[in-house]
Amino acid sequence: MYQLKINNLCEQEFLNQYWQKKPLLIKQGFTDFQDPIEAEELAGLAMEESIESRIVTNHNNDWQAYQGPFEDFEKLTEQHSTLLVQAVDHWHSDAAQLLHPFRFIPNWRIDDLMISYSTPKGGVGPHLDQYDVFIIQGEGKRHWRVGLPDPTLKQFAQNKKLLQVEQFEAVIDCILEPGDILYIPPGCPHEGYAIENALNYSVGFRAPNQQDLFSSFADHVIDTDSGQKRYTDHTLALRDSKGELLQSETDKVKTLMQALLNNDELFKHWLGNTLSQAKHEMDLAPLEEPITCEQMSELIANNAEEFERLGGVRAIYQQLEDTLLLSINGENYPLPLCDLNAVTLLTDHDYVNTDDLNAAQPSLVFIQTFTTLVNEGMWFN
Ligand code: SIN
Ligand code: CO
Repeated sequence: MYQLKINNLCEQEFLNQYWQKKPLLIKQGFTDFQDPIEAEELAGLAMEESIESRIVTNHNNDWQAYQGPFEDFEKLTEQHSTLLVQAVDHWHSDAAQLLHPFRFIPNWRIDDLMISYSTPKGGVGPHLDQYDVFIIQGEGKRHWRVGLPDPTLKQFAQNKKLLQVEQFEAVIDCILEPGDILYIPPGCPHEGYAIENALNYSVGFRAPNQQDLFSSFADHVIDTDSGQKRYTDHTLALRDSKGELLQSETDKVKTLMQALLNNDELFKHWLGNTLSQAKHEMDLAPLEEPITCEQMSELIANNAEEFERLGGVRAIYQQLEDTLLLSINGENYPLPLCDLNAVTLLTDHDYVNTDDLNAAQPSLVFIQTFTTLVNEGMWFN
């Protein structure tokens, strides 16, 4: 288990002073840091079709990016190269443990664990990310520079697959050693170059933009066949110009649209669905012999079994007027309010044991839901 120490700050102080505000160097955030994965294993994952990976090289300042999966690692040269693998937490349970210390930030904001392996002088060059990130130094050392957001900094495409930013002034200029962590808020330019072969772990976050939200909400409205109410104008009066669309009519159209956003039931079902979706494939192994709800009830009542949440499972819940809405990887499960304790055992922990579930006195609907999740492989024992 990794224990995070944010310099001399408690988690709330970190959130108040740094989160989404300014970058922070956390020296020895993890003391005696042990890498959860080796470079060879990472390379093995980068050979898989279903896992997103890239190699970036910068020989003689010529930046190139290659998309995985890789059959060999010729491009991962002894110097000036980096292999990056996305969502390793979906595939490697030890690596997924690295997300745990950052779970003081809510589940729905956490995205995935990206891991990079760089050879000396390797990096992806100066760039900006749209999201917050904690970069943890594993094996090796890497020289990092981080700047503050600067709207005048120009972004440009080094090539089709690699967006970079022009040189920037650094407010952090440091050499990360194993267990050191950099927190970088969105929009802060940064660049890191390995000094010796180096593993880096990036805990990435999500923050949807309006475009994502509106387009996904529109999909949900269509999928659920909602929003059939039509514009009406029973008080229509003559006007001077037939061409004019009156402000009052614009307002009515906006109100008609806003009525859908104000429909709490529809809105929360959509939000749970969209925010719990995984962006990368999952290593799901559904049970070959599914268990029944009766067997699960029996297990909860009489056995001391532990279930592990599969890496990449996104588990969130919302309180509706008279129900709880549990959302797991794009599926919504309405549950009675009395299941709050049982639900938080699933959403707030990497492991859940049947004794605790039993003590939470779950409803039959909860047991049915958990049976489905176990049969799908979202939780396993
Ligand atoms: C890397 O590990 O090379 C990239 C991490 C980042 O800059 O976001
Ligand atoms: Co970055």
